[in-house]
Amino acid sequence: MEHQITICTSCRHTGTECRPGYQLIKRLREAIALAGDAIPQDFAVSGVACMAGCDRPCTVAYHGTRKATYLFGDIDPETDIEDLVAFAGQYAHLHDGWCSSCDRPGKLRKSTLARVPAAIVAIEESKAKAS
Ligand code: FES
Repeated sequence: MEHQITICTSCRHTGTECRPGYQLIKRLREAIALAGDAIPQDFAVSGVACMAGCDRPCTVAYHGTRKATYLFGDIDPETDIEDLVAFAGQYAHLHDGWCSSCDRPGKLRKSTLARVPAAIVAIEESKAKAS
């Protein structure tokens, strides 16, 4: 897989005991499958127990080979699937995964907890220092 969406399965809806991560995984997988050619076939959606964004449930991360990583918070499976699918399509076509907040769809403009450059940047800097 070249692209991955990781969803926290431990986040609780604010003020409740409900953990909607598995519901979010199911709905996002279905929505990506329905999106057809708008989303490359190599997008996987999976869960993880916690991504240290616990104050902003649910958290969702986008990663890709040689691409920036994003962590989004405040994601609701009832209202935000469309924005997540739109960003998957956008992210898949960005060669380094980098985009500014104003270019992201809907809620993802304001719910970004982190944007981390691709690891290849750090590796190249290490090689330059060594030579
Ligand atoms: S419990 Fe979801 S990020 Fe920590």
